[in-house]
Amino acid sequence: MKCNRMDETFETIQIEFDEETGVGYLTLDRPDSLNALSLQLREEIIEGLRALNGLNDDGIDMRAVVIEGSEGNFCAGADITEFEDDAPTVDADRTHFQFLREYPMPVIAKIRGYCLGGGLETAMSCDFRFASEDATLGLPEVDLGIIPGAGGVQFISRLANPSVAMEIAMTGDHISADRAADLDIVNRVYDEAELDDAVEAFATEIASKPPLSIQAIKQSANLATEVGLDAGLEYDGKLIDPLFGTEDHEEGVKAFAENDYEPEFKGR
Ligand code: COA
Repeated sequence: MKCNRMDETFETIQIEFDEETGVGYLTLDRPDSLNALSLQLREEIIEGLRALNGLNDDGIDMRAVVIEGSEGNFCAGADITEFEDDAPTVDADRTHFQFLREYPMPVIAKIRGYCLGGGLETAMSCDFRFASEDATLGLPEVDLGIIPGAGGVQFISRLANPSVAMEIAMTGDHISADRAADLDIVNRVYDEAELDDAVEAFATEIASKPPLSIQAIKQSANLATEVGLDAGLEYDGKLIDPLFGTEDHEEGVKAFAENDYEPEFKGR
């Protein structure tokens, strides 16, 4: 059961928080333009994520975020009507993407309908992509005489391979959720009717795990695509050492030893 306890008001997003599960929800809410990324929407995504993370400062455990789009579409990319004003700068383009990658807790993109251009780049800046069967993904920027400006080719080159990235970005063709899953661009595909429950169950599961372990795993996975194996293994060694001294480590060991003990992880 989601409950909205957020004070902030936004025009282009909605945020909600489920106190029972520790999962926050951020909805892109510009349905008239298929949730296209206006400058305001990009800024509000960052502000919304900050507001959700800020719950932790108030002693409320917020441990995973789901991002989705309103009214059956994830996001149709950059708002093309704003191209006429001023070409968005690379910095403006990258901000919410980087913010997602660096966000301290896991973020799941729940994808229905169109997920194109900057929408797909937003989803690929998240840690997981769960899609419904009807989702349509693509990088159509080539037909506007530009390229994906927030790492679309880079992300697909890493998730799949550079040839697949070029195929998708050079043609601008839409691909189905099933094909995207075959290419490892999305993690899972569900029937439309099952997607909400599947994402909630997954988010609830990772929100119940020791938060410091979850954060360390995200840091390790992010580094894995950037450095060689030796540097990655050295980094993991640095991540694990402080975890041995945490209350949550003790809690996990206790739960292993005592069959009917249900662990409660506190993030310390
Ligand atoms: N920016 C601004 N507005 C957008 C938009 C975008 N990226 N994508 C869709 N819209 C608007 C449309 O202009 C339309 O507005 P209107 O009702 O005022 O005319 C509304 O959203 C619905 O889109 P429409 O094109 O009528 O829907 P469709 O089902 O026929 O086609 C798409 C859907 C996604 C295939 C098509 O809208 C499209 O190709 N959009 C652009 C995608 C793109 O190039 N993204 C990358 C930008 S760099």
